[in-house]
Amino acid sequence: MLSYSDCYHIIEKNLKALSFERHPEELYEPVRYTLSVGGKRIRPVLSLMAHALFNDDLDPVIMPAIGLEVFHNFTLLHDDIMDNASMRRNSPTVHVKWGQSTAILSGDAMLILAYQLIAKTDKKVLHEVLSVFNQTAMEVCEGQQLDMNYEKVSTLCVDDYLTMIRLKTAVLIAASLAIGGITSYAGDENINTLYQLGLNLGMAFQLQDDYLDVFANNRDFGKSVGGDILANKKTFLLTSALNVSNTDAKSELLKWMSKEYFDPEQKIRAVKQIYEDLNIPEMTRQRITEYHTKASDNLFTLKVSPDKKSELISFFNKIMSREH
Ligand code: IPE
Ligand code: IPE
Ligand code: MG
Ligand code: MG
Ligand code: MG
Repeated sequence: MLSYSDCYHIIEKNLKALSFERHPEELYEPVRYTLSVGGKRIRPVLSLMAHALFNDDLDPVIMPAIGLEVFHNFTLLHDDIMDNASMRRNSPTVHVKWGQSTAILSGDAMLILAYQLIAKTDKKVLHEVLSVFNQTAMEVCEGQQLDMNYEKVSTLCVDDYLTMIRLKTAVLIAASLAIGGITSYAGDENINTLYQLGLNLGMAFQLQDDYLDVFANNRDFGKSVGGDILANKKTFLLTSALNVSNTDAKSELLKWMSKEYFDPEQKIRAVKQIYEDLNIPEMTRQRITEYHTKASDNLFTLKVSPDKKSELISFFNKIMSREH
């Protein structure tokens, strides 16, 4: 059976094989940098694992899986501009290293590259793969716009937050699993279950990303801890804290959110303290567990022999216990 590490190596090998023997160098160097600087590769690994549940020959899933990873990396280039993030995977972000215009254009080139790779999918399933991918790519843009809209509001209901993360993050994880089901001819019912499973896993994944953005250790995380606090991002933590009925905590949070000039370390420390006082870390962990359990239930209902599911189960657990 295929483990995470087997899949990871297959993905790395195929990413390395992409050649960018084109000019100008200024456009392609950031693309090579982005694809070679690390990353967990969870989306293409999920495609490979989903495919392997139904078909041992991995060939048909490789190109769409690589396309999904390139698409994900494209979103990160633009996301880091939008979030004003200077670090990713323990390295400087593209817009910091080469400037914003380069990050926009190299990101655009990666989106096109993603389509070129997905277009190499076997013709018999290409139409279905593309239709899932197109809808997903559009929804990611919608989620990213909501994420920016919500930076400017002072309160948000948890349901609106959940819709936003479903769009910006969960749908791509869902599509990665569903596409593995499509390339392996798993059948409509299983493909649907894989998609639902991916949505639940993706929700847990973004909730955990929000949690780690506050509580991770800087070096393990690879991104600047506290970045979401500085940008007033409506993470699950901030959304929940603003919705609790403690008026003192709420006005203290609103005060920090409205400050134009502040010491970044001081703001991070103060907001983190408010989260702890309100028991927000525990609430977040509970939500993560809730979605993780739903994803495991979906996996249980997938119509394939139980012994085939063990690698996916251990991969879920690995994702859930991650530090970055
Ligand atoms: C980061 O995704 C963006 C989110 C949806 C939270 P990953 O945590 O999968 O990033 P890499 O690819 O492993 O760096
Ligand atoms: C990521 O959300 C969503 C997309 C990149 C589409 P975040 O902004 O939380 O991701 P990180 O934390 O920068 O990786
Ligand atoms: Mg973002
Ligand atoms: Mg970001
Ligand atoms: Mg984040």
